[in-house]
Amino acid sequence: MKIQSFKLERYLARYEFSAPYLMCCSDCEPLTLKELLALTDKESLSLWENLQLGYTDSRGHHLLREEISRLYDNITPENLLVTCPEEGIFLTMNILLDPGDHIVVTFPGYQSLYEIADSIGCTVTRWQPQEGKEWKFDVTYLESAIRKNTKLLVVNFPHNPTGALPEREDYNLIVKMAKENNIFLFSDEMYRFLEYDERDRLPSGAEIYENGLSLFGMSKTFSLAGLRLGWLVTRNRELLDKLLAFKDYTTICSSAPSEILALMALRARDKIIARNLEIIKNNLSLLDRFFDDHPDVFSWNRPKAGSIALPRLLLKERTSLFCRRLREEKGVVLLPSRVYDYGEGHFRVGFGRRDMSNALTLLEDYLDR
Ligand SMILES: Cc1ncc(COP(=O)(O)O)c(C=O)c1O
Repeated sequence: MKIQSFKLERYLARYEFSAPYLMCCSDCEPLTLKELLALTDKESLSLWENLQLGYTDSRGHHLLREEISRLYDNITPENLLVTCPEEGIFLTMNILLDPGDHIVVTFPGYQSLYEIADSIGCTVTRWQPQEGKEWKFDVTYLESAIRKNTKLLVVNFPHNPTGALPEREDYNLIVKMAKENNIFLFSDEMYRFLEYDERDRLPSGAEIYENGLSLFGMSKTFSLAGLRLGWLVTRNRELLDKLLAFKDYTTICSSAPSEILALMALRARDKIIARNLEIIKNNLSLLDRFFDDHPDVFSWNRPKAGSIALPRLLLKERTSLFCRRLREEKGVVLLPSRVYDYGEGHFRVGFGRRDMSNALTLLEDYLDR
């Protein structure tokens, strides 16, 4: 397989472990092992201490799948496959797509959501949101984009990088279009449960459509990206069996310690989600004030969910240059929209980390200069 390099990951790899201030991360403040163990119930602790470090069940530990299924309506442990999140995208695209197929995908977006399809030889239609309308994804555009050979619709709500989240009515229409046209729906839900208003939470794609496939995991909402653990959900058993069989060629099974740590975190999910939403909301109020103070420099579309957003830079400067100068002078890393193949006008800001306020002060200093 020949595939383009993953621009965002390559960019981050250069600075993630060396720059003093990361103000672009998409995960929430990572938990330490000590913090997680302090939140843990007795049964999980005993599983942890007595854990055998051998191969694990390819589908995922049965207790973990049971706990994951509690996040959904109408989903049982038999509807789940534990994978690394990025791996889940890779498996799905390889199982569902053939050369010549057409897919529609929300764009800008996480590159693997369209790049793998492209490398397989599919035609990819990018469904772009309207910045002037709070990054709304227009459903009438989607209708016009569907073709006879459209095999797959890929959506990512809450959306990376804009933080957009459709109204329930629009989401229902999106799912209806997939159903009526017999198109598989891949719903990347990596930022689910980070809606600022719980009433905005959308049903999971797998809950409401038999040929819907949802992706979720521990990396963002649950502060445990280092576990490299997530899952695919679908009620289409034939599809799930194919995904499981393909996994024999990627990781075979998940890491035993990660499975138990994920189980612990999911059992303590209410506390972890509340912690992260508190960090996010505090940071968002700082960002609101900051952008209010600089109306000539930035345009701020406040997100509805998640830990990232995509402000526009109103200055003439390209954002790749703006980000580079800021990084070189102040050690603060923002993510220019170029890494999303989305021009030079925007940058991604991340606000799920505790030290964001320090980075913001440095950005303020940089602008004052
Ligand atoms: C929308 C989206 N999907 C999938 C992933 C992949 O998650 P992971 O890095 O945990 O494999 C990410 C990570 O940034 C993401 O933002």
